[in-house]
Amino acid sequence: MVVFSGFSKFDREQRLDFIAQVIGLNAAEMRSFHDYDAPDAHQQDVYSTMTENYIGNFPMPMGVVTNMLLNDEMYIVPFVTEESSVIAAASKAAKFWAERGGFRACIEGITKKGQVHFTWNGKPQQIKQRFPIIKKQLLNSTGLLTEKMKLRGGGITGLTLIDMTASMPDYYQIDVSFETSDAMGANFINSCLEKISSELRNLEELNSEELKVEVIMSIMSNYTPDCKVRCWVECPAEKMEGWNKELLHFDFIKKFKQAIDIANIDISRAVTHNKGIFNGIDAVLLATGNDWRATSASAHAYAARDGNYKSLTTVQLTEDKFRFELEIPIAIGTVGGITQIHPAVKRAMAILKYPDTQKLMMIIAAAGLANHFAAIATLITSGIQTGHMRMHLSNILSQLNASTYEQDCARHHFASLKVSYSAVENFIHNLRKNK
Ligand code: MEV
Repeated sequence: MVVFSGFSKFDREQRLDFIAQVIGLNAAEMRSFHDYDAPDAHQQDVYSTMTENYIGNFPMPMGVVTNMLLNDEMYIVPFVTEESSVIAAASKAAKFWAERGGFRACIEGITKKGQVHFTWNGKPQQIKQRFPIIKKQLLNSTGLLTEKMKLRGGGITGLTLIDMTASMPDYYQIDVSFETSDAMGANFINSCLEKISSELRNLEELNSEELKVEVIMSIMSNYTPDCKVRCWVECPAEKMEGWNKELLHFDFIKKFKQAIDIANIDISRAVTHNKGIFNGIDAVLLATGNDWRATSASAHAYAARDGNYKSLTTVQLTEDKFRFELEIPIAIGTVGGITQIHPAVKRAMAILKYPDTQKLMMIIAAAGLANHFAAIATLITSGIQTGHMRMHLSNILSQLNASTYEQDCARHHFASLKVSYSAVENFIHNLRKNK
């Protein structure tokens, strides 16, 4: 096996040539990497510098969910998703709830945090005694970095020393809280933390012939339980009729509650249950150029905050009222990152009427709750496969290279029949045979 170095120094064509040689691509296949280039040269430049080892653009479909009534304001919400039934499901739930008062949401906090992990070989009592002075010095050291953020209403909101020596010899953390205004703030937070850690290494109070700070690492925490949204829908119980004619409202609500209870007692179900929330959340995070990995990591940890991984949603039934609620940490931004440079993200933000970060947090939570509500409501009634496979029909037809005529025939044929890959394949095969 040959280990190759220097690939990142290649320009795009050299990279493509290299790949073509290694895996044996023909000229047409090579050219296809340019199929999704932006027509505008400047824009293409933006894409090509967004990532290391760039070879081409990767299109994903963007659709919208209409009728998203949130805090009495109607939104059209852009979703970027590869899963064909996600937008249909969210749209059905959005309409259902728009007719019952819509989604409500509020921000429960906007604090993010970062940590400097370090060791110090003195006595815990000594560092704790010296900390009030040290804290001032550490905060002062970030003055230049936090200046602009303070003008935007953010900055460092707390700095504490945590004694971790019971878990690991000589181990401490400096735990720093931040507010980052409309930015996601990762770069700001990490810059502040690195400044704090270099100051820590130089402090006379902690460094001498015998005593020494060794910084292990300085990094923001993607666990953001204090940067959180609460989003809910509620209506009189009898108004829950209408999703599906199969169940009367009290049976529907009973089964709905049981579905949530099951997610709270069984991790195998809980993960799929919460994944249904992320169908909507990730689709809006992607459309708005936000970091979906960070949000997923945080929310899944939050789902396990009491030691067992559970549902992120709860159902309450009080005085004949049905209330379904999602509580989820979402740390995102509407300025910085790719939000202002990616053309599709700019379009998505325009569709959303340029929300600030807190509004976008609520929209994202509502999208998640919409998809999740649709998933549970469908699972406890008709099951998801009929609708899912109907939406998947287009993908199957694309895989079979169906012509427009064949697609029309198939859509007509499967309008009232169960869709499966083999059934569609047989149908197209027979159509071609009898032509
Ligand atoms: C499919 O993408 C999502 C669901 O599996 C979620 C759930 O089971 O609750 C339908």
